[in-house]
Amino acid sequence: MYLEELFGLNGKVAVVTGGSRGIGQVVSVGLAKAGAEVVIVARSNADETIRLVEEAGGKAYFVRCDVTDEAQVNKTVAGIIARSGKIDILFNNAGTCYHKKAIVLEGEELGGLNDGEATLEEWNSVLNINLTGEYLMAVAVARTMIEKKIKGSIINMASMSGTIVNVPQCQAAYNASKAGVIHMTKSLAIEWADYGIRVNSLSPGYVRTPMSQPPFVHQELLDAWDPMFPLHRMAKPEELMPAVLYLASPAAGYTTGSDIIVDGGYCCV
Ligand SMILES: NC(=O)c1ccc[n+]([C@@H]2O[C@H](COP(=O)([O-])OP(=O)(O)OC[C@H]3O[C@@H](n4cnc5c(N)ncnc54)[C@H](O)[C@@H]3O)[C@@H](O)[C@H]2O)c1
Repeated sequence: MYLEELFGLNGKVAVVTGGSRGIGQVVSVGLAKAGAEVVIVARSNADETIRLVEEAGGKAYFVRCDVTDEAQVNKTVAGIIARSGKIDILFNNAGTCYHKKAIVLEGEELGGLNDGEATLEEWNSVLNINLTGEYLMAVAVARTMIEKKIKGSIINMASMSGTIVNVPQCQAAYNASKAGVIHMTKSLAIEWADYGIRVNSLSPGYVRTPMSQPPFVHQELLDAWDPMFPLHRMAKPEELMPAVLYLASPAAGYTTGSDIIVDGGYCCV
């Protein structure tokens, strides 16, 4: 009963972006298990996530949306309000990453750690998805919270890469985008504090998902990371769920503008 009072999400509507796989999929199931109706916003279909939510006894539906497209974002949020009546929680999670150097010299050996030199187009696409996409979703959802006087919770996906520069891969665009997410979060938390909307970010270390596994990551890079984990392994996506549940729930009523790092000690070393 006490735990339900602190962490229960019965009657809440939670939107999860990038919920068709990886962390977003696991968090969709976790939020549904805590009682929320979950709306999965993703570019590709989310049949598997919906099946997992339903197997767990929860309720979910899917809306197709590219979070970098303002018109699609606004249409998506309006559609959710029409169907579910309100949004209480946004897990702003969709993201991407490249391992590319800013400068590759002629003949330079990259040893499987990086995939060449980043183009301006690639830089822009990482910033667009990771930072602008989260901003567009946060603004569209917060507008509905303000209109409906919902004291909601927005959880922006950052990364330990917003605080440290993890090596040996090069990912200036990713690191800059996640540092931007952390400070955007603090800025929006202050801007929307008067409405009772809480805005926080989550900064995981390495998490075992498609983004951190072959073919996206070369075996040479996995081998280089291996000795660097203080807990001797990557996180399982399930291990982020308690932090998400805390930030989403009444338990975090006095937590806003915070960045919660769940990195197995990586940033301490
Ligand atoms: N895996 C890690 O080690 C790790 C560590 C720290 C932070 N993160 C962050 O966690 C989030 C989820 O990552 P993941 O590991 O589950 O990766 P993932 O690649 O499995 O999932 C990313 C999801 O975002 C979606 N997406 C990408 N661009 C989109 C767009 N324009 N519109 C809508 N959806 C889009 C993808 O389709 C996918 O469903 C990302 O923001 C990532 O930066 C991941």
